[in-house]
Amino acid sequence: MKYGYFDDKNREYVITQPDTPLPWINYLGCQAYFGIISNTAGGYSFYRDARLRRITRYRYNNAPFDFGGRYIYVRDDAAGDFWSPSWQPTRRKLENYSCRHGMGYTTIGSQYNGVEASTRYFVPLDENLEIWQLTITNHRRQAAELSVFSAIEFCLWDAQDDSTNFQRNFSIGEVEVENGVIYHKTEYRERRDHYSFFACSEKISGFDTQRDTFLGPYRGWDDPAVVESGQACNSLAHGWAPIGSHHVRLSLEPGESRQIVFVLGYQENPRDQKFDPLDSQILNKKKAKCVLSRYLVPGTADAAFEKLGQYWDDLLGICQVDTPDVHTNRMVNIWNAYQCMATFNMSRSASSYESGIGRGLGFRDSNQDLLGFVHMVPERARERILDLAATQLPTGGAYHQYQPLTKRGNNDVGSGFNDDPHWLIIGVAAYLKETGDWSILDEAVPYDNEPGTETELYEHLQRSFRYTLDRLGPHGLPLIGRADWNDCLNLNCFSDSPGQSFQTTTNKDGKVAESVFIAGLFVLAGRELAEIARHRCHKAEARSYLAEVEKMEATIRQHGWDGEWFIRAYDDFGRKVGSKECVEGKIFIETQGFCTLAGVGLEDGLAARALKSTRQLLATKHGIVLQQPAYSKYYLELGEISSYPPGYKENAGIFCHNNPWVMIGEARVGNGDSAHDYYSRINPSAREEMSNVHRCEPYVYAQMIAGRDAPTHGEAKNSWLTGTAAWNYYAITQWILGVRTDYDGLLIAPVVPKGWKGFKVTRKFRGVTYDIVVERSGDGNAVSLEVDGQSIAGNLVPLPPSGTTNVAVKAIVA
Ligand code: GLC
Ligand code: GLC
Repeated sequence: MKYGYFDDKNREYVITQPDTPLPWINYLGCQAYFGIISNTAGGYSFYRDARLRRITRYRYNNAPFDFGGRYIYVRDDAAGDFWSPSWQPTRRKLENYSCRHGMGYTTIGSQYNGVEASTRYFVPLDENLEIWQLTITNHRRQAAELSVFSAIEFCLWDAQDDSTNFQRNFSIGEVEVENGVIYHKTEYRERRDHYSFFACSEKISGFDTQRDTFLGPYRGWDDPAVVESGQACNSLAHGWAPIGSHHVRLSLEPGESRQIVFVLGYQENPRDQKFDPLDSQILNKKKAKCVLSRYLVPGTADAAFEKLGQYWDDLLGICQVDTPDVHTNRMVNIWNAYQCMATFNMSRSASSYESGIGRGLGFRDSNQDLLGFVHMVPERARERILDLAATQLPTGGAYHQYQPLTKRGNNDVGSGFNDDPHWLIIGVAAYLKETGDWSILDEAVPYDNEPGTETELYEHLQRSFRYTLDRLGPHGLPLIGRADWNDCLNLNCFSDSPGQSFQTTTNKDGKVAESVFIAGLFVLAGRELAEIARHRCHKAEARSYLAEVEKMEATIRQHGWDGEWFIRAYDDFGRKVGSKECVEGKIFIETQGFCTLAGVGLEDGLAARALKSTRQLLATKHGIVLQQPAYSKYYLELGEISSYPPGYKENAGIFCHNNPWVMIGEARVGNGDSAHDYYSRINPSAREEMSNVHRCEPYVYAQMIAGRDAPTHGEAKNSWLTGTAAWNYYAITQWILGVRTDYDGLLIAPVVPKGWKGFKVTRKFRGVTYDIVVERSGDGNAVSLEVDGQSIAGNLVPLPPSGTTNVAVKAIVA
């Protein structure tokens, strides 16, 4: 069952029924001003940091699930009846409804009683504001006398404090209203130097800024007293809950259409110019007025919207594919790339499942996100790498997270996740391969943001690698610390008190529990670091890294292999985790995926065996589960993983993030059918037909799909902000379609299904457009290459002479 359809030409998903199983959201903004918007206009906005600079308020885990947003009410002034064109919050029966989620915008429209109203929401490039363009058309035979009300609720900036500290917050709310523009300025009188403003292009017949006046006692957003009465009260909020609502009266002739533009924005003032006049307490509104003078004029919004479309044309144009599979094409060309932008911007902070107040940017998450983002805006990837590296600790270890506003390590979640440092090497390697910008390695970057501690970035990578060598356990495998990639495998935690954090509680000295996963990651990162060292002409150093890598591979073979698959870890008692010897949790996906993707066991057949075991024991039709058998009870020595009921999250859920590791492993052993089969099982577009089972958005990946042990097998949760986006993008484009960036050029190494006769890829790489045509002439994966009509040996397309703009590549796969 479906709730809409893909409109690929317009790069939109069109939702045709408002009561989707869960809110199906989109993101507005891709630089500094952001918003979340659901298919019924729910959601909120913020500037840079979803926790510290929240502009509008939202209540999580609500009933209905998604409530509070960018609402518009239309009132038939003759009949006294009113409705919301976005269905919520009034939920009237509409004559039709559609929500078009596109690249950085959402348009929600409907018709009710012959009046059509449609609003396009977006954030213009390079501006700290959002636009709501409302078009309202009278399809009746008679004239319509209408009132339009806008409605948002302001957040008192710090979203965490806003939702808890009511003894203070109920007394501090402040607004100003001037010429119909509503300014929110809570705490501006003291230490804040920023404010928000909400304006409307039409002359208004009133406004409201006090929530209780607008709604009326004991009423909700579905039934505001002001909208019912048809006249705004001009309420001025002081304390309680400041909101923004404009009231516009319209008279529309039959067939007449009108557009109203609403602008919600954010501004900061220099400290010494906060007030106007300077010695008053009146907000200096100059900057907002200047922006509004441009954006309230008809035409500016349309022009800004066109510019946004052009921006996405350019970004998506960097990699376009044409394969026999519509779901591959749609995800690579549109939605997966788009999701990678969202994960890059948001990390794991703000979605329907991430409250925006919990987490900052994760060190490992943000580094992995680069894999799917670096080709789009390499300059921003560069900046992110340097920011991340600046939070690294002198030991080479890392804070697990940092706050985007302050760019400082966030001590709440601490450090000591022993996989973290290696992801910096993986992120930097991806950047170097994409851009060839070796100068990044010479950048001076501090440790723990401490001035005076700067070294070149290259040394950060050296310390990352060293970090593991300094922390090897009894078997010579890396010590796991608080956790490795799997946040929930907490082998040093031993927590028996409710409410303790599994990630920061440590009851063991950490000298025994080891991670085979980190060993695989070490192999991958070590090989990259050796390549990087070789490029910097540190030949001996490169050799020493490779020697350590080989040693680690041997250790994996000796202590990390269980006979039919890779072991997962050793616990604090030195017992195996993820072994046939275990009663539950005998086999885990992480090590099968990561060891094979890192190339461990390719020559001696261990990789192929591990992948076979994965297929037999972990694969389901909805994707590959994390481990089997699921833990049926809580194990003190394993931690959070066993806290989840079987089939959910890390306890045998289909954790989509690591499925692509297995796809890449399959590609590495040459099995294109299997790689693409796994790809399709979790591809959201390929799952669209079962939207009633999958329940999350069919256009983006979710972190998890319930595993076979769960009663809701196949149900997705936690869509959008997941490493799944970058890893799937990377797996399909670079390993299955096999157009792979490398330090010295583009590799062409497809491992695609046997049934595919061929496919095409257009890839912009270091300023050159490569038009790549792949044809199959046999069943294998051997590649013969022609570059601009000349056959060349091997499968690396070398960098063309400077000045070249286009290169034609033909690859025959046999
Ligand atoms: C979440 C975290 C990520 C972690 C994964 C597995 O996606 O953001 O850092 O690796 O869970 O626990
Ligand atoms: C990751 C995991 C989640 C866990 C969390 C702890 O997001 O997916 O299960 O609760 O990390 O920070």
